[in-house]
Amino acid sequence: MEDLILRVTDIRKDYGHIQALQGASLSVKRGSITAVVGDNGSGKSTLIKILSGNIKPDGGSIQVGQESYGSLSIKNAMELGIRTVYQDLSLDNYKNSFENIFLGAELTRGPFLDRRAMKEEAGAILERINVAIPDLEEPVGNLSGGQRQGVAIARALRTPGKILLLDEPTAAMGIHESHSAMNILRSLKEQGMSQLIISHNIHQVFDIADYIWVMRLGRCIAGVATADTTPQQLQELILSRENQEVQ
Ligand SMILES: Nc1ncnc2c1ncn2[C@@H]1O[C@H](COP(=O)(O)OP(=O)(O)OP(=O)(O)O)[C@@H](O)[C@H]1O
Ligand SMILES: [Mg+2]
Repeated sequence: MEDLILRVTDIRKDYGHIQALQGASLSVKRGSITAVVGDNGSGKSTLIKILSGNIKPDGGSIQVGQESYGSLSIKNAMELGIRTVYQDLSLDNYKNSFENIFLGAELTRGPFLDRRAMKEEAGAILERINVAIPDLEEPVGNLSGGQRQGVAIARALRTPGKILLLDEPTAAMGIHESHSAMNILRSLKEQGMSQLIISHNIHQVFDIADYIWVMRLGRCIAGVATADTTPQQLQELILSRENQEVQ
């Protein structure tokens, strides 16, 4: 396990009669970018929500570092260094970048908000993750998709984390915007941040991920090193009806 930051074993989750996860297992190597691909409804977002502590699984285990857990609360997940960026980014479009980065965790000085301190610290976090936002006072509703993703990642990493989970980080983005979002993730990897990324974009996955897990009907049916596969083979795995051997 030393080289793994995360291992999920046989996780199950039912919503009434819908079996969203039917014994999903996967692992993330420390310092890697690991992608999860799979058709709509295959259970990807449910898995992320279980890892971030938003949903309690019905069975299975989650190992983070050396410890194993049956489920995580949001607080546990935070303490373990798990940081999450959800697909909708959960930004307040009418607030500016630093207000969003400190949303719910505002810095104060006596009875007042310390806007100057928040702006300075937000600027430092954005610089550290290589996100360029010319005016931190601009409402985030006016920013580009890549910049908005940057603000959401900066918020997730406001307190240091060990693994970043991202659900569809470039959905609904244009080519240039996804490119800049991918560059943020690359620079985080250079700083040693492990990442688990859900994506529908096979080419993007090949561009950025070291390992790829394929989900189908609530299970991980294959785990491959990107260097050992091709986009076509991956596409076939996603569409395949039969379970493949999992690493
Ligand atoms: N809160 C919920 N209540 C009932 N069913 C749910 C709930 N959340 C997810 N599901 C169902 O669980 C299954 C897995 O959903 P999930 O959102 O994890 O899939 P996904 O792989 O993220 O899909 P997509 O690629 O469309 O985002 C689906 O059949 C979905 O309809
Ligand atoms: Mg989803």
